[in-house]
Parts: sequence; structure tokens; C-alpha cells
Amino acid sequence: MFTIDRFLESCRRAVAGVDPEQAVRELVAEAVADPAAVTAALPERTQAGFEILHRAADLTVLDFAWAPWMCFKPHNHCMWSAVGIFAGREDNLFWRRTPAGIEAAGARSLGAGDVTVLGRDIIHSVVNPVGRMTRAIHVYGGDFFAPPRPRSEWDHETLVERPWDIDHTRRMFAEAEARAHATSG
Ligand SMILES: [Fe+2]
Repeated sequence: MFTIDRFLESCRRAVAGVDPEQAVRELVAEAVADPAAVTAALPERTQAGFEILHRAADLTVLDFAWAPWMCFKPHNHCMWSAVGIFAGREDNLFWRRTPAGIEAAGARSLGAGDVTVLGRDIIHSVVNPVGRMTRAIHVYGGDFFAPPRPRSEWDHETLVERPWDIDHTRRMFAEAEARAHATSG
């Protein structure tokens, strides 16, 4: 049965091994293959945002809750990551750099049970296309809050690059949450 402690222990072993990305991908896939078990193992979420399940120099594990219909700005991580969905849907738009900025280059829609690995230099934006929270486990191959080089985000309208702003990020979650509540009455 899935437990957070066992999952984190397996992730810690995986990042110390030879192919951390692949190993973590398999662990996340194994976990979200039973979405109900992951849901039961994690605290119920009443607010959008991310909770830190584990934070170390070589590994961060976050419990993500996207607000209903939330759109999240393009950003990079400067480290690889694995994303597994256990409720709702997470639509990922992938971007590539151009001489002038960035342009959309691909997309992947992830539903409960789906997993994807994002390479170190990936730029993505995220939409929750459903009217309830989307829940995901995000595993990062480093300290998400202290990347090895400065992380970027891009204005969603102008696509102008700027330094990653964690306070703006937290505000986006709070605003998306407030909008969802206003819409649902
Ligand atoms: Fe991301």
C-alpha cells in the first residue's frame, strides 16, 4: 500500500542511484497508478498551492493542488522533474526559446494515473481545465527553492522573460482559488 514515508524513502534511494530520472519516473508512475491510494495517504486539501513533502539539496517532493480552471505562467525549473497526476487534469504547454523570446512548441495533457518527466531546461505553462482541484505529485531532482542557477518565468501575455518570483507564484494560487470560489458561488 502507498505511504508517503515509503515513497519518499524510495525517491531518496532513487536520486542516489545511477539513473535518477528514470527511477523516479517509475516510482511516481507506480504511485499514481492507484490514485485513490495516493489521495488517501495525503492530507485533504481545501486550498490551492503546494505543500512540501520533502526538501533537500538533491530532491524536492511537492504535493500540488491546482485551483479549478487555473492558468499558470510559463517557467523553467533548472532541474529535471517528474509529474504524476492523481486527480483532475493538468494540461502542459511546452515552450522553446527563440531569438526573440519563447514560442509554444508542444503540449501534453495529463489525467489521473499519467506521468511525465520534464528535462532540466524545459519551459512549461500549466492549465487545470476542470472545475475542481487537480492534484499532482511533483518530484524535482534538486532543491526546488534554491535552483543551481536563477530560474525564469515569462509574462503570460507578453511572453517577456523575467526572474522567477515565488511571491507572485503564491499570489497566483491565491487569486485562482478566490476566482474559483467566486464562480462556484
Ligand atoms: Fe513547473
